[in-house]
Amino acid sequence: MIDDKDFSEVEVTAHRDDRIIEPEFRAEDADIEYSLRPKYLNEYIGQDKVKENLKIYIEAAKKRKESLDHVLLYGPPGLGKTTLAGIIANELGVNIKITSGPAIEKPGELAALLTGLQTGDVLFVDEIHRLSRQVEEILYPALEDRVLDIVIGKGPSAQSIRVDLNPFTLIGATTRAGQLTSPLRDRFGVIMRLELYSEEELCSIVQRSSVILSIPCEREGALEIARRSRGTPRIANRLLRRVRDFAEVMGEGRITKEMSDIALSRMEIDKLGLDSLDRRFLSTIIKSYNGGPVGLETLASALGEEAVTLEDVCEPYLMQLGFINRTPRGRCATYEAYKYLGINKDGQQFLDD
Ligand code: ADE
Repeated sequence: MIDDKDFSEVEVTAHRDDRIIEPEFRAEDADIEYSLRPKYLNEYIGQDKVKENLKIYIEAAKKRKESLDHVLLYGPPGLGKTTLAGIIANELGVNIKITSGPAIEKPGELAALLTGLQTGDVLFVDEIHRLSRQVEEILYPALEDRVLDIVIGKGPSAQSIRVDLNPFTLIGATTRAGQLTSPLRDRFGVIMRLELYSEEELCSIVQRSSVILSIPCEREGALEIARRSRGTPRIANRLLRRVRDFAEVMGEGRITKEMSDIALSRMEIDKLGLDSLDRRFLSTIIKSYNGGPVGLETLASALGEEAVTLEDVCEPYLMQLGFINRTPRGRCATYEAYKYLGINKDGQQFLDD
């Protein structure tokens, strides 16, 4: 079962606090996220393909009384990778230890985590692409042969001793599967990609969360939040909390379409959930690079942002909306993007037909 104290090991990333639609985990999400987190597969909304396959792998492992194969979960931030890891542990009826790539600084720290696992336990490593090379290397024999090779001493007198580990399941999560080394990637028996959620799925998540938080919420109100959550449950739940504030102060404590609309407009989140960075991203391609193609690094320096932020945060949603294309020569804005921003090919105000 999930032990709350294990969450203390998760690294909390610092963020510019002006972006409410930032999908990365923030300290303020902590308490609420844990209370809203589904504990079992049947409570988890969306990601149907992933859920169906996981159900089978979990049942098969339980039937054989074996540990589940190592699992790699990848996809944009905020889609529920940590939640799914907790669910897998609960469904298997085992303990989970939660940590992250950058939190494990030395091989000895990983060795301590691995030797502390009981038979069948889950070790969840978030941001697994950020493990150091040294740490990663002691993971290989642990994953493959369930052993740790520990070197004692230095120089010619150094000795290697082998320690057996209990059977365990590593669940790795990453936003960037392409950055994993191939020896590490090859050691995962199950590799699953999480997709952005549909509006309908996010609406169900908002409705479920509002019941848990005891906030009266009409379907149309939930749908308005869902529409502006860029396919991401973490953002939907964060917006729900802010809309609740508006509803309690300015309304009658009930989340209606009107209340959501007022609150989200006041937060400057537009009809599609785009914020100023997304709009600057699109208008820079259009106005400064004639619609593209433009390379990601060039775009990042023009915007004064890191390329990884654009790639992990802006692009998945803008691509889902069909506003940009990624080509080998760079990023291009589509006709839909021009239309949405109201700009024509000459960078002038767009006159729709
Ligand atoms: N809360 C956050 N993500 C969720 C999901 N996928 N299903 C149900 N509740 C959630």
